[in-house]
Amino acid sequence: MDPSLSKLQEMVKNRGSLECCSPWDHRVGQDQRLNTTTKNKVFTHSEYQKSKRVSIFLSMPDEIETEEIIKDIFRQGKTCFIPRYQVQSNHMDMVKLASPEEIASLPRTSWNIQQPGEDAVLEEALSTGGLDLIFMPGLGFDKQNNRLGRGKGYYDAYLKRCLQSQDVKPYTLALAFKEQICLQVPVDENDVKVDEVLYEDC
Ligand SMILES: Nc1ncnc2c1ncn2[C@@H]1O[C@H](COP(=O)(O)OP(=O)(O)OP(=O)(O)O)[C@@H](O)[C@H]1O
Ligand SMILES: [Mg+2]
Repeated sequence: MDPSLSKLQEMVKNRGSLECCSPWDHRVGQDQRLNTTTKNKVFTHSEYQKSKRVSIFLSMPDEIETEEIIKDIFRQGKTCFIPRYQVQSNHMDMVKLASPEEIASLPRTSWNIQQPGEDAVLEEALSTGGLDLIFMPGLGFDKQNNRLGRGKGYYDAYLKRCLQSQDVKPYTLALAFKEQICLQVPVDENDVKVDEVLYEDC
């Protein structure tokens, strides 16, 4: 069995909250910067270059650091949206980020994720023109473009809403460390594949 898969399966079995350990704990405290190869793949990607409305996650310590991409989104004059999820459900919206500097002042949720407060009135992507590109987080991915997230189904549900509310499906681009690429990640009927996984050295 692929050792990565057994680790993932164990993690899936044990995961109850976003605070649970991920199999990539050895990465925490290490260099999370966006690898130059991956960064170049993002910046030269045709879907990135042509996108106008982009959503991107604010990275956690075990995820690829997205700060440089966020800054570039603004540099390129694109509109940037970030996730705002509801703890009590699998509902998530993508809401407009005014500037990269705004991130520093965003409150943290009980899962220690920065996002705008629920009372903040912000432009929501799907009701104001949709999205062209969604950067996808995840704990594990496989070569069939399956994605294992943090077990709440936020992105699967969100992608389904995208398909209902806009004619052209947003392109989904996952960002991963090479350790997160597995032979096979477990999926169910609600899991939505990503269009592409970008990782270092591929
Ligand atoms: N659109 C949906 N409608 C109903 N249930 C859903 C939907 N999408 C996902 N689910 C269910 O939610 C649960 C969590 O989904 P899953 O394990 O795929 O989360 P995930 O993709 O790892 O998490 P996340 O997207 O939050 O990072 C599963 O039981 C899944 O079947
Ligand atoms: Mg899923």
